[in-house]
Amino acid sequence: MAWKTLDAMDLDGKVVLARVDINVPVEGGRVTDATRIERIVPTVKDILSKGGRPVLLAHFGRPKGKPVPEMSLKVTLPALEAALGRSVSFASDCVGSGPKDAIAALSEGGVLVLENTRFHPGEEANDPDFARSLAELGEVYCNDAFSAAHRAHASTEGIAKLLPSCAGRLMEAELRALEKALTSPKRPLVAVVGGAKVSTKLELLGNLTSKVDRIVIGGGMANTFLAAQGVDVGKSLCEHDMADAARKIMADAEAAGCELVLPLDVVVAREFKADAPHEIVPASACPPDAMILDAGPASIARIAAVFSGARTLVWNGPLGAFEIPPFNAATDAAARQAASLTRAGRLVSVAGGGDTVAALNSSGSAEDFSYVSTAGGAFLEWLEGKTLPGVAALEQDR
Ligand code: 3PG
Ligand code: MG
Repeated sequence: MAWKTLDAMDLDGKVVLARVDINVPVEGGRVTDATRIERIVPTVKDILSKGGRPVLLAHFGRPKGKPVPEMSLKVTLPALEAALGRSVSFASDCVGSGPKDAIAALSEGGVLVLENTRFHPGEEANDPDFARSLAELGEVYCNDAFSAAHRAHASTEGIAKLLPSCAGRLMEAELRALEKALTSPKRPLVAVVGGAKVSTKLELLGNLTSKVDRIVIGGGMANTFLAAQGVDVGKSLCEHDMADAARKIMADAEAAGCELVLPLDVVVAREFKADAPHEIVPASACPPDAMILDAGPASIARIAAVFSGARTLVWNGPLGAFEIPPFNAATDAAARQAASLTRAGRLVSVAGGGDTVAALNSSGSAEDFSYVSTAGGAFLEWLEGKTLPGVAALEQDR
């Protein structure tokens, strides 16, 4: 690994600016899923145990460079205090005299959160002056926000060039898990790529065909592949204008010796709603007035066989309309099988991306995966083979 960890840093008595991603879902003024908050606890505790004074930098939502009261990080304080088991103080700006005074007043063992960095236009513009205003608040920079590392912002990229920098524990864990899954995997290496659209995952598929042994394609995007092979997919979600792109992926996969696993049979319905009357038909026989909402039992069995033969699995995107039962069946069955192979020590399984984690959680299998990333966009960009600016900036600081 080309970046330093907290182990390499002298933090005693120092103000440590820790960039975290606590961009969590909130409803009615309360955090509804504290996963991202819980995952930064090891970093904050390690900074404290090394005598450092943690000051958390974070964004929340997309306020576009000006203060938006509903996007104040204040809403995260109770969840942060619960996760850290201590009181957390707050400064209502992330630069200037407010945070300086709050840092001076920080008690031994205290943790300070600074207001949303995106309240300033300099954050997303990666403005050097703004980065300098952030950097002058502390002595060490620790980036624990893998899930924001695809953004070249002042608090994720610019600041790393101005202070001695390291990766936090969550950043470390994310990078190690991804490395294990894609850079030096045990083979066969299988990817599951699902979700609605080919267009959003084109680069991902392009990168994976040359890296993995098999790709299980599911969700709406499987329909685009079926249609590109000349299959009538009826009223299914399908990007007909992506047919050429889909055919190119199929040709690239074939040339690279990567097998694309498409549905053999599908579950079709006439309405997109929970418990809509449905039937199982061969993938080539979707009735013209019906839509494909899930993979069928023969497909599930095929996916199970593919998983059984795999040693490493990377998963992004659901296999069907998992949010409306019973069209969660294929996603659930595949997730449970991946979980049980992982438990048995036969598979390294890594999953990530917004919907993916929700889908795995709903099947109760996320906990058995080797690693579940907290990242959405950053996980995808990493799988696409892109350099993440937030990670690259840490690598330069050697
Ligand atoms: C996320 O929720 O995916 C990260 O916090 C990044 O947020 P962004 O997409 O607004 O940059
Ligand atoms: Mg995002």
